[in-house]
Amino acid sequence: MANITVHINGVAQTLDVEPRLLLVHLIRENLSLTGTHIGCDTSSCGACTVLMDGRSVKSCTVYAVQANGKEIMTIEGLAQGGLHPLQEGFKEEHGLQCGFCTPGMIMRCVDLLERNPNPTEDEIRWGISGNLCRCTGYNNIVKAVEYAAKKMQGAEVPAAETVA
Ligand code: FES
Ligand code: FES
Repeated sequence: MANITVHINGVAQTLDVEPRLLLVHLIRENLSLTGTHIGCDTSSCGACTVLMDGRSVKSCTVYAVQANGKEIMTIEGLAQGGLHPLQEGFKEEHGLQCGFCTPGMIMRCVDLLERNPNPTEDEIRWGISGNLCRCTGYNNIVKAVEYAAKKMQGAEVPAAETVA
């Protein structure tokens, strides 16, 4: 067993883990944060995407021990006193369909907008190309990211309900 400390959604968690344990299993099974999903186990779908030190990673491709000392953010940590602009965008632009791929898609887009605050449609489509949505054709997801980009730059966008 390996003793690791992971800062997850701002809270330090110290655990003993098997060296072979994947980060996605640490998140879901040891920490009960089930917003991060497992869609393929072959690093194809992106449903397991979380932020590690601010960068998106597919948590089914990372060992839990590699997260030792790192800051991990999951979808549960994103809304701070209200919806994140990306969560608002998915709501307002109907980017959310099944909900299975959405947490990973949103976490990927947090990283995308951090690196490129004003992406073109092509840049958004390229940026989310590692995340599979099997039902929407991506158009509303692209609109949701455009919504969030405008909102994060202070532009006027329709108001969304806040989290109760
Ligand atoms: S479960 Fe990780 S990429 Fe699909
Ligand atoms: S909205 Fe999740 S797979 Fe399409």
